Amino acid sequence: MRIIALEFNCYQLFFVAKARLQLRLSVIYSIARIIVINDYMKPMRPTVILNQLSKEDQKFLYALVEKGGPEPGEYTEFTAIINNLEDSELEYFRDAIKESLNENTLIGHGYVKPFGYPGDFNIIHNIYRLYVNPDEKYSNWDRFFQNQAGAHAVRNRKDYFLQRCAEVEKLEGDEKRILILGSGPATDVNEYLKNNPDSKFKFDLVDFDQNAISFAKSQNMDFSDSIEYFKINVLRFKPYHWYNLIWSAGLFDYFKDKHFVYMIGKYYKYLVNGGEFIIGNFSHSNPTKRLMEVLSDWYLVHRSKHDLIRMAIEANASEEQVEVDMEELGVDLV
Ligand SMILES: C[S@@+](CC[C@H](N)C(=O)[O-])C[C@H]1O[C@@H](n2cnc3c(N)ncnc32)[C@H](O)[C@@H]1O
Repeated sequence: MRIIALEFNCYQLFFVAKARLQLRLSVIYSIARIIVINDYMKPMRPTVILNQLSKEDQKFLYALVEKGGPEPGEYTEFTAIINNLEDSELEYFRDAIKESLNENTLIGHGYVKPFGYPGDFNIIHNIYRLYVNPDEKYSNWDRFFQNQAGAHAVRNRKDYFLQRCAEVEKLEGDEKRILILGSGPATDVNEYLKNNPDSKFKFDLVDFDQNAISFAKSQNMDFSDSIEYFKINVLRFKPYHWYNLIWSAGLFDYFKDKHFVYMIGKYYKYLVNGGEFIIGNFSHSNPTKRLMEVLSDWYLVHRSKHDLIRMAIEANASEEQVEVDMEELGVDLV
């Protein structure tokens, strides 16, 4: 799953003598989201002349709404309609399924954006717990959503995080620190601490959404001694610790390249000697990309290995120090 490992030797002098700092960038081939909250994250909405859907497609879509979403035998046809949809047909498409595009479905939650941005803590938590609305009016939609490569990749990245934490925990040293940028529901942290009651980790969680922080706190009440929360934009947060691991998934794929590079430069210096900075980013080969855009108006900056390497180099890593790897599905580059 490992994609990129970087060493930032040129910054050694400023931080830790003989430091051997590592950075891993992961391209997570899946879910699409764009946060419309600040200048750094802007949606890409084309200006278009609207076109009607064909009568046949309309009929098919109305029938799906009637039965609460596509059944497995209809996934291929439904996905083909979406992938072939012109931007000019988008509004008509959404209109045809509007009764399902509400908070009762995961696709609708993505579309409505009750917290003001896509990819909020609530939908991420529901992806992790494989939530399906028990109301038959909606459950097929949720089953379809949870079956998408994007949703699988989100769950895969949590597993990857748990695995990395376990490896870091085995390293020598007493207390170890992990910083999470864009921590969302902190379901990943919750799972780790539940499964490892003797863990020596201290987690610092940074998120700019108070709702995400409140949710993370409430589900991690038993671990309040191990977690500190910071409600602040990651672009402004100033760490006052050094970290064994800095982890960020589901955040950098909303950043423009210049902010991506800025964030590497800003945070890598807070790594301890041998520490790792792991960043997740969806890759171009994400098959769920168009689906998320069409169904949930959820846009991400997808990136290639080459993009990651280029940005790592811009952040002062040398080419030899960059290693690219990919998860088994080819969705997730870590
Ligand atoms: C898609 S969620 C990912 C949550 C978590 N990393 C995970 O993978 O389970 C992204 C989170 O990043 C937060 N976020 C987005 N932009 C941010 C920013 N500029 N500063 C701090 N938090 C941010 C959102 O509020 C949201 O909770």
